[in-house]
Amino acid sequence: MSKLTTRHLFDMACEARRMSHSPYSHFAVGASLATQCGRVFTGCNVENGAYGLCICAEQVAITKAVSEGYREFASLAVVAEPRATPCGACRQVIGEFFPEDALIHAFAAEDFSNQITWTLRDLLPDRFQFHEHG
Ligand code: THU
Repeated sequence: MSKLTTRHLFDMACEARRMSHSPYSHFAVGASLATQCGRVFTGCNVENGAYGLCICAEQVAITKAVSEGYREFASLAVVAEPRATPCGACRQVIGEFFPEDALIHAFAAEDFSNQITWTLRDLLPDRFQFHEHG
């Protein structure tokens, strides 16, 4: 992925983060993903007064893309202030759709250069994968 595209993903995630519904944690998160064909989908965290129903920004971006017919993804960016890493549940959801060598970027919202990048393989080694037998 070129630096320019990474910057674009960052900008799109920042824009989505502005839509965050996070009145309980006051922690706004934005996410963006690039499909293999070059489209971008975004999401923000959507919280609920019943805390267990809070939805992470990454999962919103992924479910938006899948529900629009896209499921081959190349890279993902998550933006928060301070910088946050994808939670365990999000790693499993990312693992459902992204290749092992997909790049997952975490950025500080206020500083593009404050970032860390992993491959999915590094973020969630030996993840659960469902295989049917018989
Ligand atoms: N959150 C995300 O949106 N993505 C993550 O990977 C970590 C956590 C959200 C969930 C909740 O709305 C808030 O951040 C605080 O946990």
